[in-house]
Amino acid sequence: MRADVILDNEAPNFLDVFFKTHENVSIIGEIGFGNGEFLVHLAKKDPEKFYFGFEVSRTCLMKCQAKVEREGLDNVYLLSGDARFLLRECFPDGVFEGIYMNFPCPWPKKRHEKRRVTAGFFPDVLAAVLILGGFFELATDDEEYAFESRKILSRHQALSFESHEINPERAVMTKYERKWTAEGKTIHVVRFRKEKPWTVKRISEGRASEMHLESEGAKPDMRLLSTFNDTSGGSREQRWIFKNCFEGSDGTFLLETMTADEEFQQHFYIKIVPREGKSLIKFDPATKPLVTPAVKKAMQELRIRMEEIQ
Ligand SMILES: C[S@@+](CC[C@H](N)C(=O)[O-])C[C@H]1O[C@@H](n2cnc3c(N)ncnc32)[C@H](O)[C@@H]1O
Repeated sequence: MRADVILDNEAPNFLDVFFKTHENVSIIGEIGFGNGEFLVHLAKKDPEKFYFGFEVSRTCLMKCQAKVEREGLDNVYLLSGDARFLLRECFPDGVFEGIYMNFPCPWPKKRHEKRRVTAGFFPDVLAAVLILGGFFELATDDEEYAFESRKILSRHQALSFESHEINPERAVMTKYERKWTAEGKTIHVVRFRKEKPWTVKRISEGRASEMHLESEGAKPDMRLLSTFNDTSGGSREQRWIFKNCFEGSDGTFLLETMTADEEFQQHFYIKIVPREGKSLIKFDPATKPLVTPAVKKAMQELRIRMEEIQ
């Protein structure tokens, strides 16, 4: 049995199908599962529930996938990408019975504080995706982070602070928990509950495959398209950059593109298909992004530029 690793651009379609075929199921999430022992322990203990793990590290994803396979579990799904965006863009409101976050990077420097998982829009995301009465549990060795999260999350209208335990007995220790405990550090486990209904604004429009444009300009070739290399645009909130253009053996072109909607970055290829008197602009099926405002702007900008080139 192999755990599915779902890449961030596959997540909306995968989860569409999952929620259509799994009604009223219990779902537990873990953000930043590392080597996966906590997630696997929970999934083994309670095979009736479904477990969704979120990780940005591909190495961790592979390690956890191997553990799931060894244990023969079929109730674990591993999502590759930034949990803050995946939870917001790919999950409906009110689906998680609980979400764990064990030993997140505390990002102690002022200039990095936006990277903290509890910063910015995350409390709203948490409040939206938990079921009523659902919990969020944060374990950390960083006292300041524990108290800051407590302050931020308990200020939220839909969440309430439930408990703050010091060095509690836990059913399974994570790698980082073992490390910090061995160094004599104090472990803080802080719990919150969702008390009221909540929602959050999603910025993506779901399936990438539904977006394609046509441009009426001159027939594109490498000489023209390479003038787009390393050009960028947009605003602070929605940015894009065209990196390199590659020519395919079938006369089509792939334009490597990166976009950022605030901190949400995506890396994908736009496919340009020359046709009689026009060109089709669409996503390369292997790297479809979520259709966010920045992605739409990048596509529209490309169309304008292609119509301008002569
Ligand atoms: C310090 S490690 C802790 C790993 C594990 N939970 C443990 O306790 O051993 C933090 C983990 O969170 C992951 N991570 C950091 N930011 C993340 C994010 N925004 N979304 C998903 N995973 C994230 C990192 O890749 C890393 O594996």
